[in-house]
Amino acid sequence: MSNTKLNAAKSAIELLPDSGAIGLGSGSTIAIFAEELGRRIDSGKANISVVPSSYQAYQLAIDNKIPLTNLDINPELLMTFDGADEVDKHLNLTKGGGGALFQEKIVASASKKLVIIVDESKLVDKLGTKFLIPIEVLPFSLGVVKTKIEKLGIKPILRQAQKKMGPVVTDNGNFIIDLKFARPIDDPEDMAIKLKMISGVVETGLFIGMTDEVHVGTDTGAYVLKK
Ligand code: A5P
Repeated sequence: MSNTKLNAAKSAIELLPDSGAIGLGSGSTIAIFAEELGRRIDSGKANISVVPSSYQAYQLAIDNKIPLTNLDINPELLMTFDGADEVDKHLNLTKGGGGALFQEKIVASASKKLVIIVDESKLVDKLGTKFLIPIEVLPFSLGVVKTKIEKLGIKPILRQAQKKMGPVVTDNGNFIIDLKFARPIDDPEDMAIKLKMISGVVETGLFIGMTDEVHVGTDTGAYVLKK
């Protein structure tokens, strides 16, 4: 197991309330966090239920015996813990490396606080430096969206599935297009708005102004970046 991710998870879990409903993000770092959370619940130290942000998060909750809830029962969450693919100096994020960005954004937007758990490799000056920016797209609109993206000077790459022929199909039955920019993004907020304005784009992996804290794991511990 990655020490850096574990250290980040251990640092973030100190924010856990004694009781209530929280959001559970997706990804390999959250898988480590979920183990810690499961242990806390099992030992009686926390009376927590989670809204999972993907089928993966749902399975993590089941595997770690974490009680489940949903956004109909708990439309307002105390906080959400999630990972990220990139974090810029304003704590804006690239997410969706695992294809789970849409539900992740809904769960984060329902939360009073968004706590991000990463290792130092995720810190960048500008978004789009290390990762392509994913968008979730309605399959019916694929051709239209690709054409409009190209007109913005961005290269659209339809994400292909592993161990299944054809494109990735998200938890919501949509496709993912990874956007290759000519250079890192100067104004991610403006770009997020432009992309979201394209009919057929269900959601983008740009999480702008949502993050409250980032717990950055290192080999020896963790440090916290705050808004
Ligand atoms: C899932 O689609 C993503 O948004 C993840 O939260 C993100 O890719 C971080 O994942 P890792 O913790 O596996 O790097």
